[in-house]
Amino acid sequence: MKANSMTRKLTLAAVFSATFFLATNAFASDSKAHDEHAEEKIMQVEKAPFGDAKAGKAKVATCAACHGSDGNSTNPEWPSIAGQHPEYTYEQLKMIKEGTRSAPLMAGQLNNKNDKDLKDIAAYFAELEGKSGEASADTFTLGQSIYRGGNTETGVPSCAACHGPSGKGNPMSLYPDIAGQQTGYILKSLNDYASGKRTGTAQQKVMKEVAALMSDAEKEAVASYIRGL
Ligand code: HEC
Ligand code: HEC
Repeated sequence: MKANSMTRKLTLAAVFSATFFLATNAFASDSKAHDEHAEEKIMQVEKAPFGDAKAGKAKVATCAACHGSDGNSTNPEWPSIAGQHPEYTYEQLKMIKEGTRSAPLMAGQLNNKNDKDLKDIAAYFAELEGKSGEASADTFTLGQSIYRGGNTETGVPSCAACHGPSGKGNPMSLYPDIAGQQTGYILKSLNDYASGKRTGTAQQKVMKEVAALMSDAEKEAVASYIRGL
């Protein structure tokens, strides 16, 4: 997960400029006031960050022990959270706090955090730079083939279709950035989706279906491949 807030802003700006372009063309004969209104909207979107990253920094002292001082975990079993889309991080934090997603090691961590705190924390980690690792050479070919093309025989879809060719995900659809994520954590997540242990949102339905179709060898290979993205 590389620093992506700039890319995100640019993407948002691009989407909204496109909308603006279409809007101005469609209403070419409309008044100038319409154009100004659209422009104002663009400004608002660019100026409205998800949370306050600076305020978030003061609320994360206890997280470093497991997620690393820069949001990159050094334990293969624990997730890196640096560079993640804030929308996704916020959703997960809400679920963990409410207990709809089980994360025993995080017990108590979010007890005194309110909704704004969770947004600020999510914004803070989104600004940090995610680091990658090395994919295992032994399983690289299988991992890459699953990631890019899935398994047409068993119906496993391409991971890239949702998480993107380089693993960056898609914030608008709450598809997480998984590039460079820790191998053991990815494997555990896939197994937890498949067994139904990982619960929480309607969004997870798709991952449950995907993971349930995968063989152990495929899960291991793709987890290692993603670590190298
Ligand atoms: C004692 C270790 C520990 C501490 C301290 C801790 N976490 Fe976690 N956290 C974990 C583990 C382990 C998981 C993965 C749970 C699972 O297996 O699904 C996790 C999961 C998460 C996730 C979900 C990641 C994802 O990709 O879905 C987020 C976000 C998160 N933690 C944020 C935080 C924040 C913010 C703090 C500090 C307020 C914190 N954690 C403190 C161990 C910890
Ligand atoms: C149709 C879209 C879609 C496809 C295809 C897909 N994913 Fe996902 N993936 C998601 C969504 C949505 C989530 C977030 C679910 C949640 O909230 O827990 C997710 C979550 C994950 C996570 C957990 C990330 C974290 O930080 O905890 C991993 C790992 C993952 N996907 C791996 C894969 C792999 C490997 C494949 C290919 C075999 C794949 N995904 C295919 C949509 C998809």
